[in-house]
Amino acid sequence: MKTRKINLKLWASLALVSVFFSCKKTETTTSKTGLIAEKAMVVSARQEASAIGLEIIQKGGNAFDAMMATEMALAVTYPFAGNLGGGGFAVYRLADGSVGSIDYREKAPLAAEKNMYLDENGNVIPGLSTKGALASGVPGTIAGIFKAQEKFGKLSPEEILQPVIELAQKGFVITERQAERLQRLRETFIEVNGEETFFAQEIKAGDTLKIPVLAQTLERIAKNGRDEFYKGETAKIMAAHMQKIGGIITEEDLASYDAVWRDPIVFDYKDLKIISMSPPSSGGITIGQIFKMIEPFDLKGYGHHSPEHIQILAEAERRAYADRNYYLGDPDFVKIPVADLLDSDYLRSRMENFSFEKATKSEDIAKGEIAFSESMETTHYSIVDADGNAISITTTLNGGYGSKVFIDELGFFMNNEMDDFSSKPGEPNMFGLVGAEANSIAPGKRMLSSMTPTLVEKEGKLWMVVGTPGGSTIITSVVQTILNVHEFGMSMQEAVEAARFHHQWLPDLVSFEPDSFDSTLIENLKAKGYIILENNNPIIGKVDAILVLPDGKLEGGADPRGDDAAVGF
Ligand code: GLY
Repeated sequence: MKTRKINLKLWASLALVSVFFSCKKTETTTSKTGLIAEKAMVVSARQEASAIGLEIIQKGGNAFDAMMATEMALAVTYPFAGNLGGGGFAVYRLADGSVGSIDYREKAPLAAEKNMYLDENGNVIPGLSTKGALASGVPGTIAGIFKAQEKFGKLSPEEILQPVIELAQKGFVITERQAERLQRLRETFIEVNGEETFFAQEIKAGDTLKIPVLAQTLERIAKNGRDEFYKGETAKIMAAHMQKIGGIITEEDLASYDAVWRDPIVFDYKDLKIISMSPPSSGGITIGQIFKMIEPFDLKGYGHHSPEHIQILAEAERRAYADRNYYLGDPDFVKIPVADLLDSDYLRSRMENFSFEKATKSEDIAKGEIAFSESMETTHYSIVDADGNAISITTTLNGGYGSKVFIDELGFFMNNEMDDFSSKPGEPNMFGLVGAEANSIAPGKRMLSSMTPTLVEKEGKLWMVVGTPGGSTIITSVVQTILNVHEFGMSMQEAVEAARFHHQWLPDLVSFEPDSFDSTLIENLKAKGYIILENNNPIIGKVDAILVLPDGKLEGGADPRGDDAAVGF
């Protein structure tokens, strides 16, 4: 009875938050300013997830409590990327200015082998690292959210997870985008999991989807804590299921998994201090290199989306990705020359052969056959709480719905993060990504990521919380969003909405969001030798961010490229 009363209260206030959000959303469209809030804000890929995170803050929780709630609410409402069966990274800044980060990236199972995706001739076996049980790494999400919440949170996991459990029980409304994706992949879900699998059902836009089995899993986790997932009934079911369908994840893999505190990458760009994720994510180092390479140029003077703006950024990206692809991997397994890679003199020297007259050729930047392409199937959320703590979190299953393995007894998808390793140096993975030795497979190793959860300080105070999904385009989308506000004076919402472009060294192409850039600009760049790709990615990134305004209020930037939503009070 008591629980029911609390639940009703929670749902009532959730409805209020939604109303507040809806009103503000109308304002956003006309003024190009995002939601403005006085004290606290959550921006994520789903309105329900943002609202539950905010609700937890309103109940007296802080950003770390809201992280647990939002992450799990995304696992319910956005199973495309929100997850229990995946992993992620979070970078935080406490109200007192101290910063840190947590790595809950998946790990290769202990039975993993360097050549496990190769046939007897040493060729990559198509699909083995992307679909089905062998594609999954050992999940890190539950370890990550519990470790962060245990150290910094204020509420109990049971209190935090209660509204999420209700959400899974009562259901959420399927959006047009979701319905399209679920319909498109329905046959694949059946192929991987059988006719009786949960997502074999026909699901239409506007339907209310309940996931009662996931509610039960979350109830057990709320009651028994993170060990339920790694050592309890959930672990036993997960390991048995994965092995039954040909996977190698064991109870020992789960029992030995832990999330890791890491020192974030911290560097200055003009009057900003930027705090981002360290390896095994490439995000922090790569944005650090890009920002340092572009720092001497007057981007503001050249103007937003001028040929010079695009050239400077594309050329810095070209050079940064060449280093990224060669040097980065799991720091617990490979030595990474972090200080050298971020050295200002080194980075200035990298731009010495750049000319406004002519595109540099990627083959002249570094040797190697290393290429990247991107996946959009990750999700990012940003939180500022009423005490001034901030967290930037990016989490993923890798591909959309991960390996497509859905554990029906538990109610969630498993990742296909093993594909982020380099299966064979020189061979592309499912996103065209070809890795080097530093990112080869080894038991217990974490695969290299592009996730770039980032915080920015100005004059010693929190200024921005930012991040995005988008595979290798994550890095360049985060850079552009920060520059859009800092150099080009945009509001947070405008910065998030602005069209984006991307270069990643190899393939030697500049990708542009289609129909968003002036044809004269494109012709100008082509004349200088740039190879332009306009129809590859319908969207580049899906940024969710928060800007602290000069009066201390918060402005949300929720990306209209998805169903993303900012809520605040
Ligand atoms: N799975 C995408 C990334 O970690 O970059």
